[in-house]
Amino acid sequence: MKSPVNVAITGAAGQIGYALAFRVASGQMLGPDQPVNLHLLEITPALGSLQGVVMELNDCAFPTLNKIVATDDAKVAFKDCNVALLVGARPRGPGMERKDLLLANAQIFSAQGKALDAVADRNVRVLVVGNPANTNSLIAQRNAPNLNARNFTAMVRLDHNRALSQLSEKTGVHFNNIRKAIIWGNHSATQYPDLHHATVDGKPALSLVDQKWYAETFIPVVQQRGAAIIKARGASSAASAASAAIDHVRDWVKGTADGDWVSMGVPSDGSYGIPAGVIYGFPVTCKNGDYQIVQGLSVNDFSRQRMEATHKELLEERDGVKELI
Ligand code: NAI
Repeated sequence: MKSPVNVAITGAAGQIGYALAFRVASGQMLGPDQPVNLHLLEITPALGSLQGVVMELNDCAFPTLNKIVATDDAKVAFKDCNVALLVGARPRGPGMERKDLLLANAQIFSAQGKALDAVADRNVRVLVVGNPANTNSLIAQRNAPNLNARNFTAMVRLDHNRALSQLSEKTGVHFNNIRKAIIWGNHSATQYPDLHHATVDGKPALSLVDQKWYAETFIPVVQQRGAAIIKARGASSAASAASAAIDHVRDWVKGTADGDWVSMGVPSDGSYGIPAGVIYGFPVTCKNGDYQIVQGLSVNDFSRQRMEATHKELLEERDGVKELI
């Protein structure tokens, strides 16, 4: 039997946390032969509710669940953790400006970055889901100077999966036969869902759909999908977000399929003119537990303009929290 991997989930009693914890515990993220210890973090007022989640997790009797730690102390939750899923974040309250939300979350993620730096496994893989995800990931990374900066990532996989879903619906071809979609940039409405390199059943996606549909329907629908779900469900995406988090970490650890890539928010190495350090959605392939940004893709003016717009928004977000990074 392999030794257990420690997986921390913050905001574990929240909507996404509730969907995520069970999937991690049941082996869907790291495999059916990999035991996990779940380290669940919540704020103090939510500890009662978290206890209910722990009871239910135990009642599932998952073969892969070794042990659960439930706490309101980040240093306990992150102790020796190998994977940290940072989901818990401050939601926008009444009358709260975007700037206030950014700052409230910046404080959470700077404290969590420091706690990770102090106690996590030195090779911890960090996925930030809590919004604004890219900037929160940057803040956590900058507050954890002793950890591997490459291992701080942000989730754009939900957007990537949404792009596959929209293209599948339009072409009538199952997602399994769609490859190489890209989400560039920020996990926000400025993200750029790019189909210039995508294939459907091996054919270029943009040869199967018209440019007007791509520019005027596909892109805004993917960008605004979160809002459409809130409108329909009366609550924000939760199960699909948890599923995307599972996909992100599973592919990072176990590798991407041959002939395909996935989108991850990762620190730029200067690729595609995005300055080094910016945590930006890129196409990546994963192998041996590491990721590489896909190189050498052509970028036309249509794409360049949109890649710059989402980069500009990330710079503005970074300026809003500059005292914490
Ligand atoms: P939620 O409000 O249901 O749950 C958040 C949980 O985090 C709450 O239980 C809260 O008590 C906890 N929390 C707050 N501050 C915390 C802290 N400092 N430490 C530990 N726990 C803390 O929210 P939900 O729906 O689960 O969403 C979580 C975050 O994920 C939100 O920021 C949301 O905007 C974001 N999100 C990101 C997506 C992405 O694709 N990157 C997709 C969907 C949501």
